[in-house]
Amino acid sequence: MKARIENLLNEISAMTAQVPDEVEQLRLKYLSKKGQVSVLFDEFRNVPAEQKKEIGQLLNHLKNAAQDKIESLKSAFEGKEDVPSQMMDFSRPVDHMEPGTRHPLSIVRNEIVRIFGQIGYTVAVGPEIEDDWHNFSALNFPPEHPARDMQDTFFIATDPEILLRTHTSSVQIRTMETMPPPIRKIFPGRVFRNEAISARAHCIFHQVEGLYVDHNVSFMDLKQTLLYFAREMFGEHTEIRLRPSFFPFTEPSGELDVSCNICGGKGCNICKYTGWVEILGCGMVDPAVLDNCGIDSKIYTGFAFGMGIERITLLKYQVKDLRLFFENDLRFLRQFTGTI
Ligand code: DAH
Repeated sequence: MKARIENLLNEISAMTAQVPDEVEQLRLKYLSKKGQVSVLFDEFRNVPAEQKKEIGQLLNHLKNAAQDKIESLKSAFEGKEDVPSQMMDFSRPVDHMEPGTRHPLSIVRNEIVRIFGQIGYTVAVGPEIEDDWHNFSALNFPPEHPARDMQDTFFIATDPEILLRTHTSSVQIRTMETMPPPIRKIFPGRVFRNEAISARAHCIFHQVEGLYVDHNVSFMDLKQTLLYFAREMFGEHTEIRLRPSFFPFTEPSGELDVSCNICGGKGCNICKYTGWVEILGCGMVDPAVLDNCGIDSKIYTGFAFGMGIERITLLKYQVKDLRLFFENDLRFLRQFTGTI
């Protein structure tokens, strides 16, 4: 018995394994129910009483040595990705992997960034949780302006000074406060309004804001920039028209319509038979807003514009219900295969 224990001990201490499978074979050979170590344990009951103590200790020592060795061989393979090539089955079919597609809103956002990037605009971002100054006050919203009403704005807890930004115009302010002109930036981001969710409105949506501040920036520059954008986005035959409007932070202000890309201007239910669809708000930055940000309005002028990414995407892809953008139904999302 003693000699057999001794032999097994030597065998076990010399054990090696090339691949994880061999470790398992060794475990079975020595430690399974019919394994060589277990067999010795079975024979232990025949050992004469006076030797039981000594043999018992040797057997326990053997079992521990075998277990330790198996564990150390096993751990040598853990975390090792290099399986020897003879263990690989190159003919096995690969696991089926669904190729992803970009979300339509990301495709359109990236396209807007690309279009303005070509004429020198770079991207800046700001926080989604804003203070009253950057979202409203610095943008010339008088204290009683209805957009501050609880119906539109999500306030954080009970502090009326802290809110979820209702537009990306807040990032205009942050940029002008920190960057001297010339400024040529676009600001994509998520915005929040306390609106009932429907086919045409959501409480979370996305905007891209643009801002250009320099010497002698005029309304003509604004119009030309928007014409360039509309044709890049909707096609070279797209026409634009500007209608007068009002925003507290721009003077004068306008809304931009593009000729309906669905009916080509002839009239359809998307453009409500007018031939035109509104895509953004814009205007010359109000001098008071420049001054609020420490930019001298006697030296500099600027224009700004802001558009909803959902709206542009609805038009571009003729999607009828913007809730589809947020439901993440793969059957819907798979239809969009933008390259950027
Ligand atoms: N902030 C406006 C909105 O959310 C959009 C807008 C209009 C942005 C005119 C502008 C602008 O920069 O000049 O409805």
